[in-house]
Amino acid sequence: MRLDRYLSNAGIGTRKEVKKLIKDGKVSVGDLIIKESDYQVTFNSKVHVLNKLINYKEYYYLLLNKPKGYISATEDNYHKVVLDLVEDYKKYHIAPVGRLDIDTTGVMLLTNHGSLAHSLLSPKSHVSKTYVAEVNHPLSKDLIGLFSTGVTLDDGYKCLPAQLKIIDNLHAELTIHEGKFHQVKRMFLTFGYEVINLERTKFDDLTCKGLSQGEYRELTDEEITHLLNHIK
Ligand code: URA
Repeated sequence: MRLDRYLSNAGIGTRKEVKKLIKDGKVSVGDLIIKESDYQVTFNSKVHVLNKLINYKEYYYLLLNKPKGYISATEDNYHKVVLDLVEDYKKYHIAPVGRLDIDTTGVMLLTNHGSLAHSLLSPKSHVSKTYVAEVNHPLSKDLIGLFSTGVTLDDGYKCLPAQLKIIDNLHAELTIHEGKFHQVKRMFLTFGYEVINLERTKFDDLTCKGLSQGEYRELTDEEITHLLNHIK
């Protein structure tokens, strides 16, 4: 990998800033001062910037408990974005894996591991996602069967079988294995229910246990290993 890319991925600065550091002789690889931005380094290289050893980590994985009012994007001219909640990690070029609506709360994964994100979002991966929905009028038990055979959405798409558990009159837990646009809200709407509150409580095995809304943490090694099983 090019030295300038290595340094910007490591969060040292923008590509322009790190190129200047390199040109100014502030960067060494092993015992040599390197002044060429395209100098090739590996993850094992000992790179120092201003005599400080860079602790290079290629990938970052964050679990965020998304609050309402934020859109699942890296930047936007009109709305707050989930990246605003993880300010310290912006420099690592992380992005949300999939989308939650602006008014949906709960489990959101962010990473700069592009191939993992791609695999998790692939229609073939069938990663399970569990939501708790609050609806606008009392739930019928018939929905359990209707959801388990595959709901047909307004555009004619037939959803994969989904598991519905009725919690009480107005609340249900729904597990789906795909991620179509506004899928949960549209599934309920098919049967005349408006979702007035939606929380994602689980993404694969990840939950927001211990995280208040707006809080986040890095995944543990065990959680990362488990997610990486989804890469084909
Ligand atoms: N389904 C929806 O309708 N909204 C979300 O935010 C996530 C799933």
